[in-house]
Amino acid sequence: MIKAPISSSINLKNQIAIVTGAAGGIGEAVSLVLTREGATVIGIDIVKPVKLMEKIKGSAQKCDLTSKKEIESLVNNIMVNYGKIVLIGSVAGKTGAISSGIHYNASKGAIHAYTHALARYCAPFGIYVNCVAPGPCETNMTKNFRPQSMVAERFPLFRPGRPEDIAEAVLFLVSQSSNWMTGIVMDVNGGIYMS
Ligand SMILES: NC(=O)c1ccc[n+]([C@@H]2O[C@H](COP(=O)([O-])OP(=O)(O)OC[C@H]3O[C@@H](n4cnc5c(N)ncnc54)[C@H](O)[C@@H]3O)[C@@H](O)[C@H]2O)c1
Repeated sequence: MIKAPISSSINLKNQIAIVTGAAGGIGEAVSLVLTREGATVIGIDIVKPVKLMEKIKGSAQKCDLTSKKEIESLVNNIMVNYGKIVLIGSVAGKTGAISSGIHYNASKGAIHAYTHALARYCAPFGIYVNCVAPGPCETNMTKNFRPQSMVAERFPLFRPGRPEDIAEAVLFLVSQSSNWMTGIVMDVNGGIYMS
């Protein structure tokens, strides 16, 4: 019989985490959860994540991720020596929901396919690539969504998501607990979609 581990193997001490979109919503929650587990977090956002600075061990930096120049300068300033990448896709990339828009759905579906391809490409280098596909969560992004898309009754687990729900899944995927997982797109959506 396999015995259950008596303690969690999640320990991010001496690990550096680069988190994008860190000034708000899911990115901020990911930064806080990884900090809680001991990681040094480098929080990146198009607006400098000033508030986050007070809550993490690490740094917060301004970078527009649509600018090749800014990304190159950021990467040149960070010694990258880590092995786990977690992308954020979306349930919309799986269901193609009309309400979220065709371009958004297509871009998220592309992230899911990119996860599979990059995972195969990176595996020989010891780099893991996984993705979390969130369902609707209460963040700035969804504050103008139609009210009926966020009602509790829509979700088998009876509530829309919180940024922390996604952050805990990211934590699992950056931790040693997921060491035989690469190329997966993990549904975290309160049961709204099951694949
Ligand atoms: N909230 C949801 O319901 C939901 C569901 C599925 C997927 N997602 C995905 O999760 C991710 C985060 O969404 P969120 O809900 O936390 O949104 P949010 O609007 O709360 O936060 C997004 C953050 O990204 C930053 N940002 C925007 N453009 C940027 C750029 N060019 N360079 C750097 N930073 C930039 C913003 O300043 C903001 O702090 C997005 O990829 C979104 O598509 C969200």
